[in-house]
Amino acid sequence: MRTNQPKTIYLSEYRVPDFLVDHVDLRFELFEDGARVHSTLSVRRNPEATGPAEQLELNGDSLTLESVHLDGRELQAGQFEDRGELLLVPSVPDAFELQVVTWIEPQNNTRLEGLYKSSGMFCTQCEAEGFRCITYFPDRPDVMSRYRTRIEADKASYPILLSNGNDVERGDLDGGRHFVTWEDPFPKPSYLFALVAGDLVEKKDRFTTMSGRDIDLRIYVEPRNATKTGHAMDSLKRAMRWDEEVYGREYDLDIFMIVAVDDFNMGAMENKGLNIFNSSCVLASPESETDMAFQRIEAIVAHEYFHNWSGNRVTCRDWFQLSLKEGFTVFRDSRFSADMGSPTVKRIEDATLLRTAQFAEDAGPMAHPVRPASYMEISNFYTLTIYEKGAEVVRMIHTLLGPDLFRKGSDLYFQRHDGQAVTTDDFVRAMEDASGRDLGQFRLWYEQAGTPVLTVEDDYDEAGQVYRLTVRQSIPDTPGQTGKKPQHIPFALGLLDQDGNDLPLALAGEEAPGGSTRVLELTDEEHVFEFTGIDSRPVPSLLRDFSAPVRVNYPWSRDQLMFLMSHDSDGFNRWDAGQRLAVDVIRELSGHADASVDDRLVQACRTLLNDQDADQALVAKMLQLPSEAYLIELSDGADVQIIHHARERVLKALATALRDDLLACYRRQQPAEHYQVTPEDVASRSLRNMALAWLLHIGDEQARELALEQFHSATNMTDQSGALRALVNSPFGDDRSRTLDAFYQQWHQDPQVVEQWFSIQAASPVSGDLAAVRRLLEHEAFDWKNPNKIRCVVGAFAGQNLAHFHEQDGSGYQFLADTIRRLDDSNPQIAARLCAPLTRWRKFAHVYSEGMRKALESVREKDGLSRDVYEIVHKSLAD
Ligand code: TRP
Ligand code: ZN
Repeated sequence: MRTNQPKTIYLSEYRVPDFLVDHVDLRFELFEDGARVHSTLSVRRNPEATGPAEQLELNGDSLTLESVHLDGRELQAGQFEDRGELLLVPSVPDAFELQVVTWIEPQNNTRLEGLYKSSGMFCTQCEAEGFRCITYFPDRPDVMSRYRTRIEADKASYPILLSNGNDVERGDLDGGRHFVTWEDPFPKPSYLFALVAGDLVEKKDRFTTMSGRDIDLRIYVEPRNATKTGHAMDSLKRAMRWDEEVYGREYDLDIFMIVAVDDFNMGAMENKGLNIFNSSCVLASPESETDMAFQRIEAIVAHEYFHNWSGNRVTCRDWFQLSLKEGFTVFRDSRFSADMGSPTVKRIEDATLLRTAQFAEDAGPMAHPVRPASYMEISNFYTLTIYEKGAEVVRMIHTLLGPDLFRKGSDLYFQRHDGQAVTTDDFVRAMEDASGRDLGQFRLWYEQAGTPVLTVEDDYDEAGQVYRLTVRQSIPDTPGQTGKKPQHIPFALGLLDQDGNDLPLALAGEEAPGGSTRVLELTDEEHVFEFTGIDSRPVPSLLRDFSAPVRVNYPWSRDQLMFLMSHDSDGFNRWDAGQRLAVDVIRELSGHADASVDDRLVQACRTLLNDQDADQALVAKMLQLPSEAYLIELSDGADVQIIHHARERVLKALATALRDDLLACYRRQQPAEHYQVTPEDVASRSLRNMALAWLLHIGDEQARELALEQFHSATNMTDQSGALRALVNSPFGDDRSRTLDAFYQQWHQDPQVVEQWFSIQAASPVSGDLAAVRRLLEHEAFDWKNPNKIRCVVGAFAGQNLAHFHEQDGSGYQFLADTIRRLDDSNPQIAARLCAPLTRWRKFAHVYSEGMRKALESVREKDGLSRDVYEIVHKSLAD
């Protein structure tokens, strides 16, 4: 078990490793009551080591040590020291072979780190520090080795034995056992090691690379999932082609494997040549998964594949550099998704996640820079800041350099650092060297936490035809960081004339206008930009396409927002204007029972609903009201119940006023004959289901008929679950329970669909109160050992069902605290992730914050708290 007083690890204390491991030879003997791991390491002193370290230090966690041999001689007690989390071997030679035998118990591993069992199969998760749960090893990413792995297991139960690289040998053994040996020619850090053993079916395909090499593609799943691999395979091939076309990156091994496992702490893992996926992030069929799942799968398959270059070939020197691979790879997968679908919609989705969740993280007690300076438990730093803000930082470099120089920079980065473990600074330097641009100030994006706030003022000088914008930036204090320096911010904008056309933009002193969208570069605390030749007061369209992860304050009037909604040439800002208008209207209603909904919002929505010439994908997004989570994020001393009711009133007012338009919209969006995940079809299903949901929300009888009909006749899960969700959130109690039962009867054998069934209920503002959620925990399909089930019930309740989670008696908070305490021993990573909703207690009005604080305190009191939960709870409660 882990210690109780976790220590803080600092970037400033980084030292190169004292010893390197050139080669790792592993032999796994897999049994039902445990596994024996024989590891042979070729170790040598690191010529670059700074101190004359005498002793070899290897990390370990939950291991039973059976023996240690050095150059063939068994070490006796006294010749090494087993400190549990550390194995010390004093006075070793400059180069030697170390053999270590450990015994582990995968069948009892509920943490899902290291080697564990999931639905009868053995699998691994080694990032970030799971390899040390398999054997003693210098478990840090700057130790890169070549691996040879032999797996031995019972042949009948585990016919498939997989590891990284190529299979070089296989054969039968006594007692019905067999073995396969794998060799990975590419040196890699231990976190990329993987092993799978199970009774799996293999789905095969092939891909010919740009240089004509033939690659074997294989997806391994349990037999019952054999029909759900097609979409992932297609996505993989698209991702491979895209990385060749856009980055010039070709796959390097002869075989690429994906395995689906049901019990997984995160989404997926990019192990070299053997990606392991959470089933819910790879398996799909139209009947059983939604459009959202299809899109998520395409993005995650691509993400893990892209890591082969951005992460594996070039990896991280230490875990402070995590965003080197994650930020860059999210940027890459997000561009890929944009190219495969609608770029504007993808941008809206990325910005929504960032503004709702990453901005919240950046303003809370766990705020940290994209390159953190310290951590206690690295698993806690797989955050929205590292991933999403990290991706935005790379995107800003792309914006500043332009596509061609960015490509030159990425080419230089891959060429210069192939086979190395490097830092975010190395990445930025490659971009600088290839482009000739100075990114010195830009580096602050990696070092300073907190979301920059831009305050924009303008004035128009009619006589001089000059429009002046004054932009001020400030960056809020975050834990341990005050008095921040101004950052280098690409600020894209346009100006609309009275007819809604973009004005050509010329800054004072320029001879000719430089286009109608300009990317201004903010570097100082205050900038004044003067646009000349402007013959009437324009409406500014600011931060076009969300050119930087910042907040923008500008006092647009509602009429100006309406104007931008219908005229802005920037799709993202058309959407954003609509969001701002809706936020403004909801806020006006908050706590004012007699205020009514501004008819301008109703008109704007009516126009959108009936505008069949507009991009329907964008229309579908524009008709979604800002979420409660976003509204909370925008307020101080947030009162959840008031926000919830204000938003509800707006929704009901819109649904009532637009009833006929919604029905017409519903009828217009006829289901496509063949299910396809094109932006058009996704938009059509999204509009149809939105219309249904709004109408059922106000208890419309006709919509009720339509929903029941849709539920029973749907041929795809988007429509079936759309109807189910609408009924669950309707006042029709009988239909609600009957449809839920029918759905469960139909799908109870498919765990992924059961997850949806759970989350629709746990997230329901109508029926998902705490008592209902507790009943779900007692349901036969619920499983405390399965992270997906926990996320779908507890996570959905605390993260999406805000009105019930934030009951003012604090019952929701105490429930979450009890759940965290319960999970802390069995799966600390999942327990720590569940803390997130409580960490922002200071954001809320007193009636809420007190209860949230008490809940955190009750978690803090638990004996033997894991390092994961300890770090979050203590940082959240610190003054
Ligand atoms: N590297 C993985 C990704 O982003 C993340 C990941 C998968 C992970 N499993 C994990 C991180 C377990 C920490 C712990 O694709
Ligand atoms: Zn990743």
